[in-house]
Amino acid sequence: MADNKAEFQAGGVSHNFNIKDGAIGPSVVDISSLYKNSGMFTYDPGFTSTASCESKITYIDGDQGTLLYRGFPIEQLADHGDFLETCYLLLYGELPNKVEKDDFVNRVTYHTMIHEQMSRFFSGFRRDAHPMAIMVGTVGALSAFYHDSTDIADPHQRMIASLRMIAKMPTIAAMAYKYHIGQPFVYPRNDLDYASNFLHMCFAVPCEEYKVNPVLARAMDRIFILHADHEQNASTSTVRLAGSSGANPFACIAAGIACLWGPAHGGANEAALNMLSEIGSVDRIPEYIARAKDKNDPFRLMGFGHRVYKNYDPRARIMQKTTHEVLGELGIKDDPLLDVAMELEKIARSDEYFVEKKLYPNIDFYSGITLRALGFPTNMFTVLFALARTVGWIAQWKEMVEDPSQRIGRPRQLYTGYPERDYTPIDQRR
Ligand code: ACO
Repeated sequence: MADNKAEFQAGGVSHNFNIKDGAIGPSVVDISSLYKNSGMFTYDPGFTSTASCESKITYIDGDQGTLLYRGFPIEQLADHGDFLETCYLLLYGELPNKVEKDDFVNRVTYHTMIHEQMSRFFSGFRRDAHPMAIMVGTVGALSAFYHDSTDIADPHQRMIASLRMIAKMPTIAAMAYKYHIGQPFVYPRNDLDYASNFLHMCFAVPCEEYKVNPVLARAMDRIFILHADHEQNASTSTVRLAGSSGANPFACIAAGIACLWGPAHGGANEAALNMLSEIGSVDRIPEYIARAKDKNDPFRLMGFGHRVYKNYDPRARIMQKTTHEVLGELGIKDDPLLDVAMELEKIARSDEYFVEKKLYPNIDFYSGITLRALGFPTNMFTVLFALARTVGWIAQWKEMVEDPSQRIGRPRQLYTGYPERDYTPIDQRR
């Protein structure tokens, strides 16, 4: 192997590929000419060794447990920043100065209402519809209402679409919640900050005043920061793949929401809380640890393990702190689920199975307890994740659309079905 080349031997022929270095992190072997030169594809189900794009947005070092947005550690953003500032950072690449921040906040704030006709979409759903099902449908429907921001070739329209989604997602999420519980929709309030406005739209009712607790609003804001982006995860890759065909941004984000819903991804916080409730008490933990380790039992400890983090998920640490702050503010001294969670973490972190496989708590392990304490039912957890991740999806989508080397995403396959065979008329089939 030459210094910046990787050599690959196949059928006695050697092929050389360029090695590309990133700013930090592993280098990549550029195999884009492999098929042309060798007639072979690479095979990497689940993309465990495949970089699908170049990106300047988010960096994760899974071994160290590091997460950087545009170079800034997540801990610093969570401690000192706020969500809209983080949105600006992800979208534009730099932290805003005061004037830029005020302008951005203003632009997001004045896009929070949705087209009045869109509210009728909600009543088409059954009351017992999962709020994520409502999100997939209604976010996709945005493209039917905002035609003036669907031309992806126009940078101005791309930015308007981006702001619209960051601004309207809390409104749509709150409406999905209100519809689900049978309460009237609450309009956005432009005098409130992003997180406070969201809590207000979720928990206010027309018949009485609702005062947003600033400690809880700050916790909500921090939860949004923690979920804002996570480089090329399944839902982000879905957004990029959908967008690579030139699909409009609203449709792409709806695709991302659909992917996020799965229990191995954004649905894990709901699944983690359900699991903690099912365990119920500390004395039942050994039974569940044994099940998680049993190869013949499909049960997994939800909120544990991560494709990239082979160390403590840095977001989980901040989330655990936030959990304590929220429970403290609400005067919840004993939460049996928190007791189960802390004990489960303690046991799992000293158990050989989890230690050897480097299975640490991920962000979802504590987020469910916090969100429940904030007043959200479990089926809203993934909706909140989608709300916060929208900015990451958009930043990644914009980066892709603005990359001149961008082409439609088209993975190849290893075909293992029948070779060519002849059609059999129906009366001759067995
Ligand atoms: N409980 C028990 N065993 C586990 C767990 C778990 N939570 N996670 C992984 N393992 C085991 C697997 O059984 C496997 O064991 P083996 O090597 O003996 O077969 C090994 O650890 C590796 O697991 P994979 O599934 O190959 O790892 P992968 O990187 O594909 O999966 C995932 C990562 C999906 C997150 C997995 O750890 C999991 O299912 N966790 C629970 C769901 C969860 O919390 N998801 C949230 C992810 S974070 C997010 O989306 C915000």
